[in-house]
Amino acid sequence: MDLIYEIISDEEIETCRDLCNELMTFQKSKAHITPELFNHMNFDTRMVPSVKNAIRNYIVIVKDGEKIIAYVYSNISPKEAYSNNFATFFDIASVRKKNVGCLSQIYIKDEYRQFGIGSKLFDMSMDWLVQFDDVEDYFIYVSNGNDNALEFYKYKGFTVRHTILDGFITVLRK
Ligand SMILES: CC(C)(COP(=O)(O)OP(=O)(O)OC[C@H]1O[C@@H](n2cnc3c(N)ncnc32)[C@H](O)[C@@H]1OP(=O)(O)O)[C@@H](O)C(=O)NCCC(=O)NCCS
Repeated sequence: MDLIYEIISDEEIETCRDLCNELMTFQKSKAHITPELFNHMNFDTRMVPSVKNAIRNYIVIVKDGEKIIAYVYSNISPKEAYSNNFATFFDIASVRKKNVGCLSQIYIKDEYRQFGIGSKLFDMSMDWLVQFDDVEDYFIYVSNGNDNALEFYKYKGFTVRHTILDGFITVLRK
């Protein structure tokens, strides 16, 4: 496999549309607690507003020839962004600094999994996230039923803290 890892700008996120929508469908297929919450989650409702509202974004796509086969999206946002009408993702008072880092979305196409691509994208995201002095708390949110992803993040050093929305989402922190 001759894969190319490419960092893209916020203006180029359209490139991630199909994979982001695949990720939402994948997560819905795994969920057993309120899977219908995914009905309105797609590239336009999740990734576009998130990229717009974050302070900084980091998006990496992976290409096999012309085909995009994976992406990861991480961001830095004010901690208050995680207490909204949808949910309170964590205790805001437990975060000392102004902003938090989040590995928000990662998706490797099925036939490309277990070859180390997820690890490489994870490492690139962490290297990017840890460089900012105004951030010392890092979060990942995993929807219920996606045990594989949960194990992957635990293996990478994140810890399960609590669940929100009656178990719909598990919050991991580092
Ligand atoms: C989760 C995901 C990103 C992992 O990517 P990947 O490319 O398949 O994973 P890798 O090949 O890099 O595996 C990395 C390491 O984690 C380990 N690992 C992977 N899945 C694991 C699991 N379920 N339990 C324990 N370890 C696991 C592997 O053994 C490997 O370890 P090694 O490097 O020491 O050999 C990928 O499976 C995926 O895209 N899943 C579908 C989308 C998804 O669930 N996204 C997360 C949404 S929150």
